[in-house]
Amino acid sequence: MAHLQEAAVKQITEICERYKDEETPLMMILSDIQKEYGYIPLEVQELVSEKTGISVAEIYGVVTFYSFFSLKPKGKNVIGCCLGTACYVKGAQQVIDKFSEILGIKPGETSEDGLFTLDALRCIGACGIAPAVQINGTVYPKMSVDQVSPLIEKYKNGGVA
Ligand code: FES
Repeated sequence: MAHLQEAAVKQITEICERYKDEETPLMMILSDIQKEYGYIPLEVQELVSEKTGISVAEIYGVVTFYSFFSLKPKGKNVIGCCLGTACYVKGAQQVIDKFSEILGIKPGETSEDGLFTLDALRCIGACGIAPAVQINGTVYPKMSVDQVSPLIEKYKNGGVA
């Protein structure tokens, strides 16, 4: 979406129109765009600003605050390692470091083959099974460093063990 194509402009305009009667439409608009395209780059934020009258600064603030939104395209598999307190004290840092080491990417990055994005998350509400890792929405409990490599292999094979 580097240069917005006509079809994308049309669709984003439609999404903005969809919520024009809402008092606070921004989250709904951004959620729909994120679902449709997988990310919300700056040129899209500018278009949303133009269509809604909401400033780019405000839109950018929302997009960067919520980890659900992304400025860059995400990989096929999105690995989210919780680094909240409960997970951290149970070794979450070592787990995310292992993902980083094997995949060759830092948190927030996507592997060159587009297969994996690694994200550091705040508490995902699974403190009782810390440290928790979430991959494409599936939560893996009590993760250990030894489980990282087999889990990556599983997702390389399409998510089947
Ligand atoms: S701190 Fe990780 S799930 Fe709550």
